[in-house]
Amino acid sequence: MLELIEITARFDGVTALSEVSFSLGEGEFLGLIGPNGAGKTTTLNAISRLYEPASGDIRLGGESLLHRAPHEVIRAGIVRTFQNLALCPRLSVEDNVMLGGLWRSDCGALSYWFGTPRSRAAARQFRAIARDAMAAIGIGHLAHSPVASLSYGARRRVELARCLCAQPRLMLLDEPASGLTDDEASDLVELLKGLRNSHGLSLIVIEHHLDVVMALSDRVVVLDGGKVIAQGPPDEVSRDPHVVEAYLGAGA
Ligand SMILES: Nc1ncnc2c1ncn2[C@@H]1O[C@H](COP(=O)(O)OP(=O)(O)OP(=O)(O)O)[C@@H](O)[C@H]1O
Ligand SMILES: [Mg+2]
Repeated sequence: MLELIEITARFDGVTALSEVSFSLGEGEFLGLIGPNGAGKTTTLNAISRLYEPASGDIRLGGESLLHRAPHEVIRAGIVRTFQNLALCPRLSVEDNVMLGGLWRSDCGALSYWFGTPRSRAAARQFRAIARDAMAAIGIGHLAHSPVASLSYGARRRVELARCLCAQPRLMLLDEPASGLTDDEASDLVELLKGLRNSHGLSLIVIEHHLDVVMALSDRVVVLDGGKVIAQGPPDEVSRDPHVVEAYLGAGA
């Protein structure tokens, strides 16, 4: 489904990714792990076209994504969350979730807010999709609460529902369990596994909670210093001496 081929990314002389290659199958859950600064977020940024790689290619269904703008990547079915929750705190949960549908639509945000007939029709459609997404994520009862009034764990769920509202085939999650309690983290694992079945999703998940990664992932890719140092099934990767060294070296 998705293929990264020797992706290299640089920022002002810092090589954040160095010839990173891995692939993801349809319906697969892939864990992306590694110490701080390993290049995990940069990898998601390259896939979602927020950063232009210096070299290499990223292919979706055999076609290069590198000729597409970020909104076209979303229309191709790839949506992401952000490490530091990018929500609008004063808007209601439902409006935040609806923004996910807007990312995907061909109506501009302004026409939506000014209420042109076409955008009103689109808004009705997104509201219905947003309701389904909130129900699937278990936050339907919070639809009319402002995001600012929610607990951190609930905000994380709003972010997931917003992704789902874009009707993705591939979700890219950047540390979805960060800041969650252990119980919330294990609920998240069950929720994501359920979405794989109900919504036919594929997933790339960055996570420092290794128990979450191990419970979710069919396969794990380990980055260190911008390079892939191991990839394979979770139990194999967790015993790999290079991986153990990268984590102990980083004090984790
Ligand atoms: N916009 C940027 N400008 C300059 N350097 C950057 C930028 N984004 C990332 N980097 C650098 O690229 C490297 C990889 O960063 P990245 O954010 O991808 O790491 P990460 O694995 O997501 O780390 P963390 O676990 O802390 O989130 C780091 O050295 C970082 O300082
Ligand atoms: Mg990161």
